[in-house]
Amino acid sequence: MAVRLKIHEITKSFPGVKALRGVSMDVMEGEVLAVIGENGAGKSTLMKILAGVQPPDSGELRWNDKPVSFSNTAESQACGISLIHQELNLAGNLSLAANIFLGREPHRFGWIDERAMHKEAAKYLEQVGLNVSTKTLAGELSIGQQQQVEIAKALSCNAKVLIMDEPTSSLSSGEAEKLFRLIVQLRERGVSVVYISHRLGEVARLADRVEVLRDGANAGRLNKQEINHQAMVRLMVGRELSQYFPHQAHPLRDVRLKVENLVVAGRVSHPVSFEVRGGEIVGMAGLVGAGRTEVLEALLGVRTALAGKVTVDGKSYTLGNPKAAIHAGLALVPEDRRHQGLMTPMSVEENLVVVSSDQRSRFGWLDRRGDRAAAQSQVEGLKIKTPHLQQTAAFLSGGNQQKIVFGKWILNKPKVLLLDEPTRGVDIGAKQEIYSLMEKLASEGVAILFVSSEMEEVLGMADRALVMHEGRITGELSRSQLSEEAIMELAVGGVAAH
Ligand SMILES: Nc1ncnc2c1ncn2[C@@H]1O[C@H](COP(=O)(O)OP(=O)(O)OP(=O)(O)O)[C@@H](O)[C@H]1O
Ligand SMILES: [Mg+2]
Repeated sequence: MAVRLKIHEITKSFPGVKALRGVSMDVMEGEVLAVIGENGAGKSTLMKILAGVQPPDSGELRWNDKPVSFSNTAESQACGISLIHQELNLAGNLSLAANIFLGREPHRFGWIDERAMHKEAAKYLEQVGLNVSTKTLAGELSIGQQQQVEIAKALSCNAKVLIMDEPTSSLSSGEAEKLFRLIVQLRERGVSVVYISHRLGEVARLADRVEVLRDGANAGRLNKQEINHQAMVRLMVGRELSQYFPHQAHPLRDVRLKVENLVVAGRVSHPVSFEVRGGEIVGMAGLVGAGRTEVLEALLGVRTALAGKVTVDGKSYTLGNPKAAIHAGLALVPEDRRHQGLMTPMSVEENLVVVSSDQRSRFGWLDRRGDRAAAQSQVEGLKIKTPHLQQTAAFLSGGNQQKIVFGKWILNKPKVLLLDEPTRGVDIGAKQEIYSLMEKLASEGVAILFVSSEMEEVLGMADRALVMHEGRITGELSRSQLSEEAIMELAVGGVAAH
């Protein structure tokens, strides 16, 4: 196989951070190359350089053995490179055809040739297996479908190297399967796919080769037959990670969270009831769309509860009012942390202390020193990679932004901690830190309810699991009853086999 794109000794610094310290790798024709590494290792930075989003400080790119440099994304695209960002960039109020040809619309007599545009667009949508009209508005599609449109757009630019930065992080498992099939087809057609993911199972399944980055440098590469979980982890973190789930059963205390007949606007139209005790870690399993996030959001009051009663330590609070919920002792770490939980123009410190600052203030005065110490403790505890506490949150890597939102809620010392996909987008080391933290909080008596689509995580961390299907709880499994089959059966709507 021939080298299509050669990346040679690329460096890139930001104030206080050496993001890339001379990284080299080759992208071959028609291969799936996975690029993996811990949060902040430099993966997205390198991809943005390949896509012309930002220039390198030094180093060289060669395309088919000729030096190339890109001063913008259009130049990189013209060369044959397309980057699909994790945050998809489609214009929701434009048709699919308009999105695909945005800025490159075919013209006829000086007018946009709508017919030609829709005809061409249909061709590319068909190639990616998306069966919807080209006149559909992009905003009406699911995330998985929007991603298919982005891929169609890349194909229409004749992409030879297609870069996907954490493409599956917000897909349902069905959508992810579709994407994997498409990736295999693209490779067969000679397209090179550069694939970034923290899900090592996916990487093992898809990748022809793996490149590992650590702290902005090459940490090693694996050929097809060398790719396995252990080898990848060893290269990523530089050591073996043994005991993956630190779970222990903690002595159960009184019921802390009690939910009675909760009905939520939207999907959860059947009354939901359950309890979580202090010291207990309860997992909420189910397929994407089962209504789990809706339940958590209703508990915190950011989504309308139509009926129901919720108490924390025996005291009820007004539903539909996040302030009341937080005051009652609830905290919710949302699924989409970068959008829902982070104030990106503010500093790491400001973000970390924003909810808990009041708790530390005395006589109406903010305790600045206390705030700083609290922020520092989270940066250390969660290993948040930042040059200093005053760094603007927007400049942190995706996974590190997620950790900030986690840390901010922990600092508020909740009685009941609601976690929505707590480890999505974080690397394998940080995953363990988050699991240990859940254990520690449970041992201190916090009631923890976590939603997870990762089966392993539910099996590994839950004392008990609630399984949801189409807006209702279809069953409850104690730790001894927990198995993949039992969860799946309930998740697709079956009845618990007690
Ligand atoms: N515009 C920027 N300004 C300042 N620092 C930045 C900027 N972009 C990236 N960095 C820093 O560069 C380092 C590498 O970040 P990058 O986003 O490439 O990591 P990553 O490997 O993609 O991590 P993740 O898995 O968390 O997405 C991080 O320390 C990050 O904070
Ligand atoms: Mg990244």
